[in-house]
Amino acid sequence: MKKIHRMTLAAATLCLAVTSAHALEGDAKAGEQAAAMCVACHQANGGGMNIPGGESWPSIAGLNADYLYKQMKDVKDGSRNSPTMLPFVNMLNDQQFKDIAVYYSQLPAVQGQGDPAATEEELAHGEKLAMQGDWERYIVPCSTCHGPDNLGAGSVFPHLAGQHAGYISDQLHAWQSGKRNNDPQHLMLAIAERMNDKDIRAVSQWLSRQPAQRKGEQK
Ligand code: HEC
Ligand code: HEC
Repeated sequence: MKKIHRMTLAAATLCLAVTSAHALEGDAKAGEQAAAMCVACHQANGGGMNIPGGESWPSIAGLNADYLYKQMKDVKDGSRNSPTMLPFVNMLNDQQFKDIAVYYSQLPAVQGQGDPAATEEELAHGEKLAMQGDWERYIVPCSTCHGPDNLGAGSVFPHLAGQHAGYISDQLHAWQSGKRNNDPQHLMLAIAERMNDKDIRAVSQWLSRQPAQRKGEQK
């Protein structure tokens, strides 16, 4: 139990840090222009693509601007290891990161895709992990940090609901193997290292099927 308390506390501390964050200063119009070279993978609507059995390009539309900005910076300075993204962020300066972050954050979130073959049993297991966690194994529910509907919380915890299953799963495996380690206070490593392949598939499939936008919310 001790570990969980520490993690919950860490999450609460981060939430506090978030409320005092300033809005990112970027120009969405300039961002749209600079993002011209991103559409090949992230698509014109920012919805990305789930290539079954292959690489998954994340849906970045409607993600929080500060989160998007941090990811681009992290890829550029090497703290997030992404050979695919590196050549593109290398062509951009800090102001362009801000412009692009603001641009994508203002696009409506696009519903991602999962594997149509996921079973009811897998989805039920995924829902349990996402909403209740598994306290026996110290797996904290995703919703504790990622928001009640997993639609994101502040600028630190990105929305997961409606993200492509392939991308969610890739990221969890990347934390497990140490390929991704840019999470503040290793909050995600602590979760991912307790999950097995079945857990990862189940939670990714369930999350990808959840509404990417809040009910009634039209951006
Ligand atoms: C060749 C395909 C490709 C292109 C072009 C591309 N990306 Fe990506 N992008 C990816 C992939 C794949 C990932 C997932 C990275 C990983 O798993 O390491 C990603 C991840 C991201 C992320 C992190 C998303 C998250 O949820 O953490 C951001 C932000 C992003 N890209 C922005 C951009 C921007 C801005 C451009 C254009 C300047 C761009 N990308 C061009 C393939 C691409
Ligand atoms: C203790 C808090 C916490 C919990 C609980 C948590 N996460 Fe996270 N998660 C984070 C943080 C912080 C980040 C952002 C990391 C960064 O800045 O790169 C994140 C990022 C992610 C990302 C990357 C999203 C993207 O767009 O790249 C995925 C996928 C993810 N979490 C999945 C999960 C799943 C699935 C669960 C539940 C099984 C979960 N998380 C539970 C804190 C948490």
